[in-house]
Amino acid sequence: MKFWIHTYGCQMNVRDSEAVEALLEAAGHEKALGEGDADVVIVNSCTVRQKAEEKAVGKTGYLCSTGKVVGLMGCAVKRLGADVFKKLPKLSFAVGPRCFGLIPKILADGNYPRLETGDNEVPQGLGEHPLTSRAGTFAAVQSYVTVMIGCDNRCSYCIVPDVRGHEYCRPADEIVAEVKCLAGRGVKEVCLLGQSVLRYRCADGTRFPHLLRRLQEIDGLERIRFTSAHPSGCDDELVAAYRDCPKVCRHLHLPVQSGSDRILADMGRRYTRAEYLAAVERLRAFDPELAVTTDVIVGYPGETEADFEATRSLLDEAGIDNSFVFKYSPRPGTRAAARPDDVPREEKERRDQVLLADQERRGLERNSRLVGSVREVMVEGPSKRNKARLSGRDSGNRIVVWDCDGPASAEVGSLVRLRILEAHPQILVGTPVA
Ligand code: 5AD
Ligand code: SF4
Repeated sequence: MKFWIHTYGCQMNVRDSEAVEALLEAAGHEKALGEGDADVVIVNSCTVRQKAEEKAVGKTGYLCSTGKVVGLMGCAVKRLGADVFKKLPKLSFAVGPRCFGLIPKILADGNYPRLETGDNEVPQGLGEHPLTSRAGTFAAVQSYVTVMIGCDNRCSYCIVPDVRGHEYCRPADEIVAEVKCLAGRGVKEVCLLGQSVLRYRCADGTRFPHLLRRLQEIDGLERIRFTSAHPSGCDDELVAAYRDCPKVCRHLHLPVQSGSDRILADMGRRYTRAEYLAAVERLRAFDPELAVTTDVIVGYPGETEADFEATRSLLDEAGIDNSFVFKYSPRPGTRAAARPDDVPREEKERRDQVLLADQERRGLERNSRLVGSVREVMVEGPSKRNKARLSGRDSGNRIVVWDCDGPASAEVGSLVRLRILEAHPQILVGTPVA
């Protein structure tokens, strides 16, 4: 059968969709050229905010009206359970985020409708043969690698622990073997994924900094990224791993969510504003250019103007290089959803816009400091906006674009040295240096 997968949500979903693709190809199915050409269409859904869920479910509803075999996978399935067939009566199958490994069998059986929520909690589809033998995923030279699934943090607003289940860490040996295999197939950069990777501790006792040290040794691999992190994991051991492992990129995605201690406590984030700043400080003491990016929620229940101003000032004080702002969305069953969603929609929108404007200003300011410096950039391909330019990222995950000057400089996955000529809020413009 010819299949097509639509993916919504985070990098974890992107990786899971790639895994399903690999599993289906291994089972003899063929990737279609697009949705129209496919016999089976699968939607990988997100439910972190209501809007995200609505998008995936809406798309699935449309697909069901086309008469194709349609499957829904991912986080929304776990949240909706059997109700998914009430919303989508023509849906063929639905599988939760921990059991997408069953999809080839579901297609082979063909008895629809079928629901698998994965309540047995046994992770399936992780590190199975088709995954580890697969060439680089989101581009031929970059690949996501799952190191942990699930989450036990239980932040008040977050539905992830309910839908992705308890934390499970893959054995370090399995991760190292997968990355070796990817590197052997030409992958230059891996991004290690988990809801909170600094909590990684596998059954043999290996912790995250040690995992980085093991991956550092892999020949052919040039860069190691990871996401997401929690300030409590930004300890001396992590800094020492950064120091000893040049392949580990000088970037940390460290979601802060709020700069107000009152809100942080209510969210159950288990750090204060001061502790967050101290974590950033520790990293920047090691490397002042280390890029720190973050996630912020605006309009959390009870968030006052003063709380919001505390968030604004924290992002400036921490020197945040890039921020992703989300308007609070109550998720059924979470602690925060029991409280009134009392910040009006227009006010959430205003706070979102204010933080975006702050980011533009701060991004420009921080990027301007890099003008004149030489950055090592991994070539990713032509720039989306201007095909005459190449685009890549520096170790800090900053996007750098430059004019192509011949095919030699265009090899995707190669590292080039660029002098920064111009700074913009979201990108740098450079020129190759000898
Ligand atoms: N409402 C708004 N944003 C949320 N996030 C998680 N849950 C919610 C919610 N209920 C945001 C957090 C997290 C990012 C992935 O999504 O900022 O870091
Ligand atoms: Fe887990 Fe907290 Fe991140 Fe939600 S915000 S996924 S609960 S660490």
